[in-house]
Amino acid sequence: MTIHYERQGDIAVLKADNPPVNALGQTVRQGLVDGVARANEDGAKAIVIYGEGRTWFAGADIREFGKTPLEPYLPDVCNIVEASAVPVIAAMHGTALGGGLEVALGCHYRVAVPTAKMGLPEVHLGLIPGAGATQRLPRLIGHAAAIDMMTSGRPIGADKALTLGIIDKIETGDPLEIGLAYAQELIGQNAQVRPVSALPVPDAIDFDAARDAVRKKSRGQISPVVAVDAVEAATRMDFSEGLAEERRLFMELMKTDQRQGMIHAFFGERQVSKLPELQGVAPRDVAEIGVIGGGTMGAGIATAALLSGLHVVLIEMTAEAAEAAKGRIAGNLSGALKRGKIEQDKHDHILNDALTCATDYVALSNADLIIEAVFENMDVKKEVFGKLDTVAKAGAILASNTSYLNVDEIAASTSRPADVIGLHFFSPAHVMKLLEVVVGKETAPDVVATGFALGKRLGKISVRSGVCDGFIGNRILNTYRSCADHLILDGASPYQIDKVMEGFGFAMGPFAVSDLAGLDIGWANRKRLAPTRDARERVPTYADKLCEDGHFGQKTGRGYYVYDGRAKSPNPDVMPLIQAERAELGLTDKGYSDDQILRRYMAAMVNEAAKILGEGIARRPLDVDMVLLFGYGFPRYNGGPLKWADLQGLPALLEDIRSFAQEDAYFWQPAPLLEQLVAEGRNFEDLNKEAAA
Ligand code: 3HC
Ligand code: NAI
Repeated sequence: MTIHYERQGDIAVLKADNPPVNALGQTVRQGLVDGVARANEDGAKAIVIYGEGRTWFAGADIREFGKTPLEPYLPDVCNIVEASAVPVIAAMHGTALGGGLEVALGCHYRVAVPTAKMGLPEVHLGLIPGAGATQRLPRLIGHAAAIDMMTSGRPIGADKALTLGIIDKIETGDPLEIGLAYAQELIGQNAQVRPVSALPVPDAIDFDAARDAVRKKSRGQISPVVAVDAVEAATRMDFSEGLAEERRLFMELMKTDQRQGMIHAFFGERQVSKLPELQGVAPRDVAEIGVIGGGTMGAGIATAALLSGLHVVLIEMTAEAAEAAKGRIAGNLSGALKRGKIEQDKHDHILNDALTCATDYVALSNADLIIEAVFENMDVKKEVFGKLDTVAKAGAILASNTSYLNVDEIAASTSRPADVIGLHFFSPAHVMKLLEVVVGKETAPDVVATGFALGKRLGKISVRSGVCDGFIGNRILNTYRSCADHLILDGASPYQIDKVMEGFGFAMGPFAVSDLAGLDIGWANRKRLAPTRDARERVPTYADKLCEDGHFGQKTGRGYYVYDGRAKSPNPDVMPLIQAERAELGLTDKGYSDDQILRRYMAAMVNEAAKILGEGIARRPLDVDMVLLFGYGFPRYNGGPLKWADLQGLPALLEDIRSFAQEDAYFWQPAPLLEQLVAEGRNFEDLNKEAAA
């Protein structure tokens, strides 16, 4: 029983009890239908619906999506609630989301606690509201406000809901009590049913303009635009026809790859930090963090830790550098203040009481976890870890933020390799969601658990990675960047590649990203890797030449693009450098189409990801997907590279890789795991399922 029926005097109470979030699964839907029928039969004068536990209904049960729908369907449930002859009151707390809000819109009266949130987040699942909200909400709050809620997916607070007219009142207290009190009041007034569907439809707005605005923001995602279509239907059709149109559009979206990609992202995001080996392993206590190096990354990491309420001791090389680091942190914090993320009090407390900047490592003696973010150089890192070994207290965790270097080698420079771990943040570290938790061969399980606990505290999506050059993300990045370089040698331009990948849904193409990160970073990395390169590797030199000319991207105003404020245009120096290199190597333009570029780029990404999985660096395909989604701007609606690969079909992808290998057998070596999956007729999702079993 997920809906409990109870009489409290004249009032029938329907209590939802389907933890953790009262999702509207089949038994809940049936319970609502039965409860409303029973209340209408047994003489109740009002019906109160409320949720047990932490929330009102947080939406349809997403686990049912993609399976055969089970009766009663949610739109019918909302209609049945609305058709009740006895007034129905929604008493909301927690998060009334998606189908949850739609049930509330089916009710005749709505009351909520001040902390309740309401929203229509279906677009984040590649869908639109499918249980009447596209028809009822515009009748209640107007087209523009309804479109905003549906296309942004952003929840609103109770105050705003009251102002908009979604709820009738806000009351403090237990949801059952406020529901009962409101019901009594309504009975006293002899209040009648008040179906939202009977309200007139407001005058039409300029729906084409609304669609254009939404299309611009959605970067290739379909569902926000379809949401506008559904709302527009309300102006052309009567309520029941509008509902049928909503259902048709909803079911069409249900069939799309984007829906599958986004639901994969939803569950992947929640699954990724659940590691079987950490079940029952208690993390170590962390109250004070040490950060070594207050440059770009150290300042960002310190900011993230401070914002989460931790004390931070930051070590720099000189007093001036320590002061500069403090300035960077203060800049980050004033940004947080401006955006309303913190109050002035907290801001002042953090800067005055929670942060210590110093130059002597002795200041780290009380730190529970110390993160090194100094220059990317093994000798420097070893020296730092050697010093840490002498000052850090017993049991302190020693972490490196290295982007590429071998965490095991760093650990070996200490007398306590079990306490050493990689915590790889992304820039800007107080903003970017991804944290790679790099587990060395000697890292102790409770150190790993502490890495994940810290990630959670800092609001990060933490992903476990083994040790290899670049870990999961940067290793894959290096491979698809190499592929882009090869495409360029063979005829593509950086601008064509950026356009194709932006068309795929990346916010920025790879060359614009390189400009943003700084071309010197890639340059330094190429120099580092040069001695270990295989003679068969194709490494272009045009990028080095750009750097030799002092063009490091956005920070110098010139890279692949020339920057003028926020505007960018192709740098006219780039193509001549590329053409000169092609001529020198005797290469001809292969005239790649956009589709050929996309196929090669994505094949390179998926193939490297499959190698990383096969080697056990990533444990599950979803781990790779979450790294690319949260650290590299991979479009969420494509689910991540391995989800995308599944949706394309692995045999065709492997066939592509084999055909590319005829031109460059060294670069295009198929991943053994990919070959195995194709031979066995399985895919990456099968591996995710096996890992979850
Ligand atoms: N269906 C099924 N399971 C759900 C769910 C849902 N709608 N919402 C959350 N869950 C599960 C999560 O997967 C998680 O499971 P796990 O413990 O096994 O990992 C558990 O509930 C707890 O969720 P969170 O960890 O996310 O808990 P939080 O407290 O951080 O957040 C929440 C709670 C804000 C409700 C968040 O879970 C959320 O945003 N859920 C999705 C809400 C949503 O998208 N609703 C719309 C669904 S589509 C719809 O309604 C279609 C309709 O128009 C027809
Ligand atoms: P940075 O050059 O901005 O900052 C490094 C800081 O470390 C400098 O302020 C320097 O004074 C300080 N420093 C150097 N040696 C020190 C020592 N012995 N003791 C105390 N302080 C010392 O470099 P950035 O970009 O912050 O990178 C730091 C680390 O983070 C590197 O390992 C890098 O690979 C990694 N990283 C960088 C990312 C980026 O996008 N910049 C992303 C993720 C990781």
